[in-house]
Amino acid sequence: MLLILLSLLAAYLIGSIPFAVVVSKLMGLDDPRSFGSGNPGATNVLRSGNKKAALFTLIGDAAKGGLVVWGARSFGPTLGLDISSTVLIAVAVFLGHVFSIFLRGKGGKGVATAAGVLLGIDLLLGGAVLLAWIATAAVSRYSSLAAVVAAIVAPVLTRAITGSEEWTVGVMAMVVVLLWRHKANIARLIKGEESKIGSKKQGAA
Ligand code: G3P
Repeated sequence: MLLILLSLLAAYLIGSIPFAVVVSKLMGLDDPRSFGSGNPGATNVLRSGNKKAALFTLIGDAAKGGLVVWGARSFGPTLGLDISSTVLIAVAVFLGHVFSIFLRGKGGKGVATAAGVLLGIDLLLGGAVLLAWIATAAVSRYSSLAAVVAAIVAPVLTRAITGSEEWTVGVMAMVVVLLWRHKANIARLIKGEESKIGSKKQGAA
């Protein structure tokens, strides 16, 4: 029990590392919470015009999700963690990103970290969901729409590829939070006011 609690805490703390804020600070850029959508995520960092910073943010946010899940799946069974505990650890790293303790409970929208989690669960699963994101983004040029489409297909693909009910429930839980965090984006998409990938920054929405 103690091991599970400590693992959940560690996963949450790792997920809480806000790479958008850290990378922007290290590269001398404005805090992404002060412009564009105000979201500390790779899409908004890209609005600073610095593609490298956006890429580093994307890699950092995805890597923390992927590494935590990979670690839990690799070492969990030896340490006595069952599948349900591993799923909870995956959800904890995702929630860390969305409700970061280092940003006083505020955080990102969870897309890159969820992608990392899915890749950590199964490379084929992560690849298939990424493909859905890339295809939607390529056609629409909306990062948020790509995230919504990828989120909707993710639980179906999780069930089909892993065959695991536990992972499907865990992914569904993350999808609910991710969609909820995109509610302002969805409203802007409906009104035709959402900004496209690569558009330059304006004051925080
Ligand atoms: O990954 C987040 C993306 O789906 C939306 O980002 O900055 O346009 O709200 P943003």
